[in-house]
Amino acid sequence: MTGFQGQITLDGPSGTGKSSVARAVAARLGAAYLDTGAMYRAATVAVLDAGVDLDDAEGIARAVTAATIEVGTTAGAELVQVDGVDVAERIRGVEVTRSVSPVSAVPAVRRRLVDQQRALVAAADAVVVEGRDIGTVVLPDATVKIYLTAAPEVRAQRRAGQLGLSRPEKIAALAADLRRRDEYDSNRADSPLRPAADAVVVDSTDLDRDQVVDRVVEIALSAVGAGERS
Ligand code: DC
Repeated sequence: MTGFQGQITLDGPSGTGKSSVARAVAARLGAAYLDTGAMYRAATVAVLDAGVDLDDAEGIARAVTAATIEVGTTAGAELVQVDGVDVAERIRGVEVTRSVSPVSAVPAVRRRLVDQQRALVAAADAVVVEGRDIGTVVLPDATVKIYLTAAPEVRAQRRAGQLGLSRPEKIAALAADLRRRDEYDSNRADSPLRPAADAVVVDSTDLDRDQVVDRVVEIALSAVGAGERS
């Protein structure tokens, strides 16, 4: 045991390596892990399957309210279900990725998922929660708040590496897509992407994943007075 109890919020734009950092931090601290992006992605599956137009906010709200969305909180054992069907793979596909921003901008969708997020967090003694608005809206009283960022070009390079792409025009297209999503998420009226006033901003532009994990674990342990562990 590392002695960490409480909530660590990990917010920031896409492509910062947030998910893999969040999972590794949870594993190091023996904490639960909640991927709130997976919940918005699962909600998007419900909307797509209901055949609702992405301009129809009311239809989106109805489709999401009618669906049963379930996510697990164990790092390394991803459980994501919509109406009892496993959608863990489907939520990572292009169709969902392309449609998730308008779904997550609908206030009724956010209210519904935020309630569910708070209930899941309340059930854990120690938890790492990853998203965009966790430190600002979902858990304003969290023990530790981290905002993870990195230069867009570096984020696009990392994403390209994961996808096995190396052509400069492909990387430029990825960078443009990341900028478009950041812009949308940062400018939406409800719960825009931004660091909480009391968040520690960690810039991973010049750090590798392990260095970021070390830094977050160190911040978390010093926040609860548990000191550094070797
Ligand atoms: O982290 P991700 O790429 O899986 O998130 C998918 C989308 O969901 C992203 O476009 C922003 C949105 N999202 C959100 O609005 N609020 C959160 N707490 C998490 C994700």
